[in-house]
Amino acid sequence: MNPKTQESPLDDVNEIRRIDKSNMLSFSIEAAKHYNEATKISEKMSADFTKPENIVIAGMGGSAIGGELLKDYTRIQAPVPIEVSKDYTLPAYANRKTLVLAVSYSGDTEESLSAFLDAIKRQCTIYCISSGGTLLNFAEKLNVSFLRVPAGMPPRAALPYLLVPQLVLLEKMGLVSDVSEGLGEATKLLGKFSRENSPEKPVGKSLAKSLASGIHGTVPVVYGFGVYRGVAQRWKQQFNENSKVHAKWEVFPELNHNEIVGWEKADALAKQFSTVFLRDKNEPSEVRSRIEITKTLMPQNSKKFEVWAQGKSTLAKLLSTILMGDFISVYLAILRGVDPTPVQTIAMLKQKLGETGTKERIVRELEKLKPAQ
Ligand code: F6R
Repeated sequence: MNPKTQESPLDDVNEIRRIDKSNMLSFSIEAAKHYNEATKISEKMSADFTKPENIVIAGMGGSAIGGELLKDYTRIQAPVPIEVSKDYTLPAYANRKTLVLAVSYSGDTEESLSAFLDAIKRQCTIYCISSGGTLLNFAEKLNVSFLRVPAGMPPRAALPYLLVPQLVLLEKMGLVSDVSEGLGEATKLLGKFSRENSPEKPVGKSLAKSLASGIHGTVPVVYGFGVYRGVAQRWKQQFNENSKVHAKWEVFPELNHNEIVGWEKADALAKQFSTVFLRDKNEPSEVRSRIEITKTLMPQNSKKFEVWAQGKSTLAKLLSTILMGDFISVYLAILRGVDPTPVQTIAMLKQKLGETGTKERIVRELEKLKPAQ
């Protein structure tokens, strides 16, 4: 065995467990189980409302990324516009013909509660997805449809429980197809990925560990395209929150019109980045040409990696590529010696915001509302 890889903390299961104190890795290892459970839970959802003219998914951070993925997945299928709204208010067009999916894992995020309040005021059709908190408290009181998902996870690790219900609901509404088959194939593939990248696998035998080692010491930049737009965004967020690093995400073809100029000067600054290209053997030929040409225009010695999607169905490809990013972000955290789970800065920010009284004001307004008939 290569003595260099032997020295890596990623080859030492005890070291991985010591740093990953709250066991973030378990969510990647058990991803298939969580997607299966999420599918079962979602079966009880009822789409018993008139077809909307548009759909707005209101949420923040780890609770909004499911909406981004849904938007990409449904883009070539759904006949209605879908927007992810990460703000206190909904877009101006939202009205009684809008379906609002209010997604907040904790149910206590002030922007999401404010968007929920806005949706009620505009008489939108609302469906809440959450583990509880203030959101479900008011959903129950105000007769708003909701799905309660299992509690006790970091929101970003609860992605299966936040994404699958949205997919299933849209399938039940007849807006997308192939969700059930796609999830079936995906869960098998996720199980295989988890075994191939388990903590016991040596760096040389695990794509996730070797990519984490390659990225270590740089700012990761993730390039997606088409349906992999939200995946690139998820990778970036997981690098931020799990590995505690800065990260960037961009998409083809737009990145060809601005981002690539940043590579013009092959100086010390450019060397601080590494680029991960998300690839698919069925990627459109025009995207393929752009990726290949872009690589030739980047400094030769800049770190470039490629991750090829696996699976047949779009869902299997999406979810397995997401899982790869999740694994890499945790292994990168181990290499940096940081516990992937706590996100102290977000917690501190929320605590300080709590002192400003905004959330209390939103709750007071919610308390004044009467239940829908
Ligand atoms: C934490 C995380 C965050 C939260 C965000 C919103 O794991 O991923 O991005 O998702 O602060 O909180 P929730 O999801 O509870 O509405």
